[in-house]
Parts: sequence; C-alpha cells; structure tokens
Amino acid sequence: MRVVSGIKPTGNLHLGNYLGAVKQWVAMQDDIQASGGETMYFIADLHGLTEWIAPDQLRDNTVEMTATLVAAGIDPARSILFNQARVPAHSELSWLLNNVARVGWLNRMTQFKDKAGKNREGASVGLYDYPVLMAADVLLYNATHVPVGEDQKQHLELARDIATKFNNDYATELFTLPEPLVSAAAPRIMSLRDASAKMSKSNPSEQSLVKLVDSDETIADKFRKAKTDPDLLPATITELEGRAEARNLVTIFAALADRTADDVLGEFAGKGFGQFKPVLADLAVARLAPIRDEMLRLLADRSAIDAILRDGAEKAAALATPMLRRTQEAMGLLV
Ligand code: TYM
Repeated sequence: MRVVSGIKPTGNLHLGNYLGAVKQWVAMQDDIQASGGETMYFIADLHGLTEWIAPDQLRDNTVEMTATLVAAGIDPARSILFNQARVPAHSELSWLLNNVARVGWLNRMTQFKDKAGKNREGASVGLYDYPVLMAADVLLYNATHVPVGEDQKQHLELARDIATKFNNDYATELFTLPEPLVSAAAPRIMSLRDASAKMSKSNPSEQSLVKLVDSDETIADKFRKAKTDPDLLPATITELEGRAEARNLVTIFAALADRTADDVLGEFAGKGFGQFKPVLADLAVARLAPIRDEMLRLLADRSAIDAILRDGAEKAAALATPMLRRTQEAMGLLV
C-alpha cells in the first residue's frame, strides 16, 4: 500500500483542509506504516501556479504549509514530505499523460468550471490541465490510496480513467488505479458564513474560514459569529436535514472531538446554539492552538524546513525517476 496526497500552498492551512485531509494523513502515517506501507505527502507548488501568485508569497506559503503539516503531526522521518517542483518527473509525466487524457474528460471537471467562472477564455491553460498534473502526481508513485476531501474525488476518477486508458493503449500494467479515500467524518467542511459554499482559501470573507494561524481569540470569535438558526438542536444528525449551517457546525464539532455527530447531539439535544457555540469554540482552540504554536516555533528556522523538503524530494525522486523512464519507454521515446 502506498498513500500519496498533496496540498496547494495558496494560503494557510484552514479547518477544511485539516479535517477533510490532513488529519487523515496523520492517522494513515500510523495505520499504513503498521501494515508495511508507505505515506508520501507533498506541497503542490506547481498546482499553486494555475492562478497568479506573487513569487515571494508562493515561497513563503510553501515553507509555512510545510511547517504546519509537521506541526500537525506529519513526521518527515516516517513520511516522505516534499515539494512537487523539486521532483521534475511530475511535470514530465504530466506532459506524457496529456496525450492520453481526452478534452471531453477535462471539460467535465466541475472545479475548473467553478474556478474559471464566466471568464473561461481568460483562465490559464494550467487551470484547465490541472487534473492531468494531479493524475501524474499519484500515478508516478503507483499510489494505492489517496486521502482527500470530497471536492477532489472527481479528479481522482479522472486519474483512474487516464491510468486505465494508458494501460490499454500501451498494453501494459504499468499504472496502479488509485483509490480516493474521503474522510467519513469530514468529507466537506462548509463556510461559516454560508453553508452552501465549501470552506475555501479563495473565499474573500475572513469570517468564513478558520485558519490554523488564527489566534485563540480569532478562532473563538469566528465560531461565536458563525451563521446558524434560532432552532434547538435535535437528537440525531438526520434531523438536521435542511439546516445546512447547523449541520456544518455539528460536523466540525464531531470531527474535532473524534466523536460521531449523533454522539455530540446526544449531549446537546434540546439546547440552542447559545450553549453549543462556546463549547465548540473552546474545543477548536484546544485542538488547533497547539498546532499553531508548534508551527510558529518551527518557522523560526526556515532553512531547516527547506532542508526537510529537499531531503524528501531526494527520496521521492528515487521512486519517481525510474517510473518516469518506464513510462517513456512504454510510449516509444528514446531516453
Ligand atoms: P487543496 O490544496 O485545495 O486542498 C487540500 C486538501 O484539503 C481538502 N479540502 C477540504 N476537505 C473538506 N472540506 C473542505 N472545505 C476542504 N477544502 C479542501 C481537499 O479535498 C484536499 O484533499 N488538487 C489538490 C491538491 C493536489 C492533490 C494532488 C491531492 C495536487 N495533486 C494529488 C491529492 C493527490 C487541491 O487543490 O487541494
């Protein structure tokens, strides 16, 4: 078993990334390694280029995201932790796979439609081609499992389609079909201001997302001001149907507490948000503050963080380079 997953350095880690993906990454480090497998996590800096970002910002974000992952529990001694750009095989395999992926397949990708919005003609080619690079990221390592939030599931279906077509077209079994693993507890964390939109770095409202760099006061304030409704909490999550904001807060509570939503509701049934929110705010601070503090401590030595990435890239390249060569050879390229 090999677990591979990535995160874009387009901003700070937020609660959606953390509960939807990174928390699973940390858990898998123990579970997968106990069964003899490997875990590989990377900062998707090449994916960070698909929408313009100032070079200094990208550099800073890459280091800060790495420090946050380490602070959250990714151990560079046990997982291969690296940045995508330092392993050029990602870009190279992506070009090869561009010739296998079909335009019709990419046209169906909902994230491109959402991100490009009405200005599709003005979107970068990279934004359109993004899922093919993502396929390269996982196929390059024969990833068996890819822990992601629900929003990335469609991209992984595409990676499976690309792998299947490649294996057929070139009569090979080179590529393993990767399995997306979506957290049952937190498949999709929504904005705290509008639960019809996912919690996202690109949401312009600061109040809509909790960042892992936020101070204790800011975290608590964002939960206290989170949008809810005037009704009381029911005894089960199914009764929260149609109350998206309430459901989102209960999901966050349960994921942070490692409890089921029904278990949490057992405690709060019949109570209002006036009672629920302060407990949620305290829980969030208790869980997130230690990660933030450790991240800030690690950031005192930025070159040590970069050394982690360099070391990880060397290990990743040792796996990626032979796989790229086998792909090139399978396609008839003289290398
Ligand atoms: P990114 O950087 O947008 O997000 C990183 C991870 O966090 C998950 N996530 C969420 N989960 C639940 N609720 C939310 N509101 C939420 N927001 C984000 C994402 O699903 C993701 O798992 N394309 C990827 C990065 C990537 C990648 C890969 C992932 C590049 N190559 C290869 C896996 C394998 C992305 O943009 O994630």
